Amino acid sequence: MNYRHAFHAGNFADVVKHAILVRLLEYLKRKPAPFRVIDTHAGRGRYDLAGPEAERSPEWRDGIGRLLAATLPPDADALLAPYLGAVRTENAGDALTAYPGSPLIARHLLRPQDRLSALELHPEEAAALRALFAGDIQVRASAVDGWQALPAFVPPKEKRGLILVDPPFEEKGEFERLAGGLARAHRRFPSGLYALWYPIKDPDAVAAFTAALAATGIPRMLRIELTIRAPSTPARLHGTGMVVVNPPFTLEAELASLLPALAAILADAGRGRWHLDWIRGEV
Ligand SMILES: C[S@@+](CC[C@H](N)C(=O)[O-])C[C@H]1O[C@@H](n2cnc3c(N)ncnc32)[C@H](O)[C@@H]1O
Repeated sequence: MNYRHAFHAGNFADVVKHAILVRLLEYLKRKPAPFRVIDTHAGRGRYDLAGPEAERSPEWRDGIGRLLAATLPPDADALLAPYLGAVRTENAGDALTAYPGSPLIARHLLRPQDRLSALELHPEEAAALRALFAGDIQVRASAVDGWQALPAFVPPKEKRGLILVDPPFEEKGEFERLAGGLARAHRRFPSGLYALWYPIKDPDAVAAFTAALAATGIPRMLRIELTIRAPSTPARLHGTGMVVVNPPFTLEAELASLLPALAAILADAGRGRWHLDWIRGEV
């Protein structure tokens, strides 16, 4: 387990992932019934943008840095407000020195009746995550294998839940684990809202992943992709993907406003592309 998200926190992929996460949470909040967020690969929760990792690899400057400096179209601005509000709350004054990861963004959006289970296996990251949420009765941070938790923690007792699966993709086989993990979890909790992140780097791997998802037979899987530059050799991350299972009916229209704005801001000049389609729709 060599992956450290501190090198990448706040980059273009985090921005797109967290913008989608926030739209899903805002939808869940439309009903008063409590829900649970299960973040299977949570990271440390809060990243120091002035720390040595972010200094060596300042990817955030072309991600959240660009977004905060941009003038957004009004509809995208409104959709991003809860996300950018969470980022600003973590930063006193105008300087951007900290970036909230997915569990901390989710925590900012929870209501008193909602809960968060945040899982992280790397010992140092897990310790930081636990310290971040120490004493918070709405959050349980655990040093648990997210792949085991993916089926084991569902269904949540609230029977409403968002499961974010955001693995590091540092080892071979993680696309297969992601598709297999979804299939097992979905059998136990078919009404769950699942958000699965994946890297766009190797087109064959993405195509095989999409085929594996389609073969599960799970209905209502929306695929969201945004690329910021042309593919290159050797392969380098050039885009970010998310599959949302059981997406809110509002999501497609929201993304049709958001993704063009994000592509224009985050991509190399004129290179931004985005794409929304159904791997499987209603059956
Ligand atoms: C991409 S990062 C997560 C970023 C976080 N979701 C966010 O958006 O802020 C992936 C994390 O998964 C952790 N990890 C790796 N293998 C894991 C496993 N089997 N179970 C839980 N966490 C794991 C890594 O240590 C890393 O912190």
